[in-house]
Parts: sequence; structure tokens; C-alpha cells
Amino acid sequence: MSNLNEVVRAVEYIKQRIDFVPEVGIILGSGLGNFVDEIENKSVLPYADIPGFPVSTVKGHAGNLIFGKVHRKNVVAMQGRFHLYEGYPISKVVLGVRVMGLLGIKTLFVTNAAGGVNEAFAPGDLMVIRDHINLSGENPAIGEEIPQFGPRFFDMTYAYDTELIQKAKKVYEQNGIPYREGVYAFLKGPSYETPAEIKMLSIMGADAVGMSTVPEVIAARQMNIRVFGVSCITNMAAGISKTKLSHQEVVETSNKVKSSFTKIITDMVREL
Ligand code: HPA
Repeated sequence: MSNLNEVVRAVEYIKQRIDFVPEVGIILGSGLGNFVDEIENKSVLPYADIPGFPVSTVKGHAGNLIFGKVHRKNVVAMQGRFHLYEGYPISKVVLGVRVMGLLGIKTLFVTNAAGGVNEAFAPGDLMVIRDHINLSGENPAIGEEIPQFGPRFFDMTYAYDTELIQKAKKVYEQNGIPYREGVYAFLKGPSYETPAEIKMLSIMGADAVGMSTVPEVIAARQMNIRVFGVSCITNMAAGISKTKLSHQEVVETSNKVKSSFTKIITDMVREL
């Protein structure tokens, strides 16, 4: 089945069940799923019920599409996302974004857990993503040209919306959360990086490193959806941290900061 058919089938399934045009899409990264408590008048569709949707294989990642209101705005949240390291083709990794795009979202919020490459960062920092470096060699726009998804060639200069970044600075200040901003480098994983790789990323200009988000952002920009992203720095990256990296540390840190994270995202929805 072509990629477009798969997306259209999922969209039709959703539209039959939910009479709702979302304005904002939100992808909730590892451990940050508690944002769903902020969504009012929820309708929940499990990924397992939506045709074509993969089911997340990562522990701690729920799999639901949640529709509802935040600050009176119509939102759709992906509770759980798909990663290249799970073995999914990139078309599946961005399926949720394609679906949300065809449902009508104008803005996409992306969140993730990331390793800190910038030594001025500390675990628990919430880094607004200013730009990214795609080191995966993959791109969701590769393949057949599908006009419904946007043009073949598209600009990535302002991939992370400048106006939303400005608003974020204000939201951080209002909440007394130290403002951090930087460049997110994307590697496929699932092994964490070596210290030599982290040194390379640092020289390249990366501030954080992670295994998600970039495919979704590229797909969103192709569809001309505005993007705002935040990385939760869950650990300092390999070699900067003298201790071994563990998934447990990632989960623990994201749990510690989940209330500030949720506050930032809800306030940002209010500011739209
Ligand atoms: N590297 C890559 N991905 C990550 C890390 C890391 O150190 N921490 C959380 N996600």
C-alpha cells in the first residue's frame, strides 16, 4: 500500500470516530506522557485500533492518540512515538505526523529525552530546540512525490519557529525555569554514543543528542506545519558524564522534571 493510502485510511478511521479538527499536535517523548492529564474532554484512540499504526515497542511508551482541549484549543497528542531503532521504516515513524497534518494541525510540539552535549547543561534542563543536525542518513521525504504531504524540496531554515522560540523565553521566565536553547543532533541508536562520537557532535555544534524527533520535524515542515520542540536533558552524554549511561537514568530524570515540562507545554499552547 502506498504511503498516502496508509495515511488516508488512518485519517478516515479517526474521522469516523471523532468529530474534531485539531489545531495543535503534540508528540510526547519518553516519560513525559503525563501531559495527557492537562487535556480536557479527552477522546482516546489506542494506536492498536488505528489501521496502519505501529504499536510502540519501548517500555514506558504508551500508545494512544488523544484528542481534547488545552486552554480551549483543540489538540491531538501522541502518547508514545515510533523510532527508527525499533526497526520501523521512516514512513511509519512519521505516520502520526502525516495523520495529524491531514487532520488539520497548524502547529506541532515535539518533545524528547536527550543527552546533554553542551557542558553548560545539567540533567533536568529543558532545552528549546533551535535547530537540528540529521545524522541518520534518512529522510521521510525520500521516495514517491506525494503532493498531499508537500513539495519535494522544502526549506529548513526556520524549521523551529522563531516566534514560538521567542514566546518560550517568556514562558520559561514566567515559570522561573532556567532557559536553555540549542541544537539537537539525531542519531538512530539504539546504542548510546561513544565518547568520541560525542566529541564529534560537540565540534559540529550540537548541544544535545537523541534518537527521535528529527524525522517528525522534517515531515511536519514538508507539510508546512509550524514546529516547536523541547528536549529534556536526562543525562550528560557519554564521556562528559563519567558514569555509564542507562535507560533508567533517562526515565528517572524525565520523571523528576515532568511537572515543569508539562507547565511549559501547556503555557505554550495558551500562547499560540
Ligand atoms: N544519547 C542519545 N539519546 C538519548 C540520550 C543520550 O545520551 N539520553 C536520552 N536519549
